[in-house]
Order: sequence, then C-alpha cells, then structure tokens
Amino acid sequence: MELQTLLRKAKYPVVLTGAGMSTESGLPDFRSAAQGLWKYKDPARLASTYAMEHNRDEFVEFYTERIKGLKQCQPHDGHYILAKWERKGLIKSIITQNVDGFHHLAGSENIAEVHGTLRYLYCDRCRQKANHNLYLQAHTTCECGGFLRPSVVLFGETLPDEAVLAAEQETKKADLFIVLGSSLQVSPANLFPIEAKRNGAQLVIINMEETELDGMADLVIHNRKIGEYLQEIDAYLSHE
Ligand code: APR
Repeated sequence: MELQTLLRKAKYPVVLTGAGMSTESGLPDFRSAAQGLWKYKDPARLASTYAMEHNRDEFVEFYTERIKGLKQCQPHDGHYILAKWERKGLIKSIITQNVDGFHHLAGSENIAEVHGTLRYLYCDRCRQKANHNLYLQAHTTCECGGFLRPSVVLFGETLPDEAVLAAEQETKKADLFIVLGSSLQVSPANLFPIEAKRNGAQLVIINMEETELDGMADLVIHNRKIGEYLQEIDAYLSHE
C-alpha cells in the first residue's frame, strides 16, 4: 500500500526524521556509506561530554564547523511539504533527531527536537541562552565566566525531558508512524517506531539504505531520495 493511501486512512500520523531528511539541504548525515560524518570523525572524540571536557578546542572547532555549515544550507522541498501536510492535518507532529532547526524554518509547528538544537548555545554554568554566531567569532565564554556550549544532546547526556515526553505522547497517539532518513541505530530515538508498532500503529520507513527496523515495517522504501519521494506523494494528494 502506498504512503498516500496510508496517510488518507490514518487518523494520527506522526513523523520521525533523521539526518537523511537534511542531506538534500547540503548537510552530511552520520552513518551513510558515502558521506557520513562519523566515517571520518569519531563521535566519541567530538560529540561527547568527554570531548567537551577534555578535548575542548577540537569540540569547539567541530561545532563551529557544523554551525557554519548550517548557515550555508536551508530547508528543502521535503521540509516544506511536511509543514504543509501539518497545516492540512495530514500529519500531526514531527519527532526529529536533527539539530538543524530546518523543520521550524520550513514552518512546521508541532516538533519534538529529541537531540536538542544547534540554533543556539547555552552556558554550562548559568544556563543563559546565547546566539550560536558567538562560536563563529571564537567567543565561547559567558559573561558569568561559564563555557558556552551548543544546545545539542552529546553522547553521554540524557535527552531533554520535555522533548522526550512530547515524543512519547505523540508516539502513543500515532496510528501511522513514518520514519524519514534515519538508520535507527541510536537509542532512545529508535525506540519510538518500536513503541508505535507495539501500540498497533502502521510503520513506514523511507530511507536510502536498510535500517535495523525494516523487518517490522508495513511499508519500506529504499533507494529513493526523501525530498523527491515526498514531492511525488504530495502531487498525488494534491490531485484529490
Ligand atoms: N533520502 C533518503 N535517505 C537518506 C538520504 C536521502 N536524501 N540521505 C541519507 N539518507 C539515509 C542514509 O542512508 C542513512 O541510513 O539517512 C540515514 C541517516 O542515518 P544516520 O546518518 O545514522 O543519521 P541518524 O539516524 O539521524 O542518526 C541518529 O546519531 O550521531 C547521532 O545525534 C546524532 O541525531 C543523530 C543520531
């Protein structure tokens, strides 16, 4: 059964996006064979609490590069289609592992950013939020003297309670759970599709490569670019 049919029949479709949702915007993903970030860099050395404490220069350089990368990229048609589908009631919410903020920029509203965001920094002492451009000016110290760090979840940290609670509530309500562009290798984000399936939802996985959960999905689409595929489905839905 095609995605457009499942979307039409479902009462509460929820979308989970991963880095594969933003590669067509120009941002690299983490694990795809061709261009994954972790292919050339060790996440534990860079995107971890250990790195932030003991490898701070490399940590700041890594996140400065990613913030620079964000500024050269923007949401693609796929992000805008998801925002349009939310306005039309075709999907109810997005749980995202991405920290690029592109779902917000494209106009989606009901978003749970379970891995935080690169859109701003915060001080690890006074918790004061700060503009992420400060990293581009090599400015990493808060007025209080604390270290300004990205608002992303580092390996070794727990996920933000509010976002996880929202994601859990949305997963419980889902009767259709659509994964877009995730290898589903990282917990606890990869538990949401499993939970949705356990609650009787239909599971759709759209991902260039195979994922860990393909075996339990009702519809699996490989070797398709998400942006192009969403445009195709949107065209079907727009001709109704
Ligand atoms: N269309 C469809 N699939 C794509 C596209 C595309 N245009 N581009 C990439 N993909 C697929 C890749 O084949 C890959 O399997 O998206 C998947 C992305 O998987 P990962 O790189 O593992 O990214 P993700 O699942 O989001 O990683 C989860 O790991 O490093 C941490 O915190 C980081 O949020 C991230 C988490």
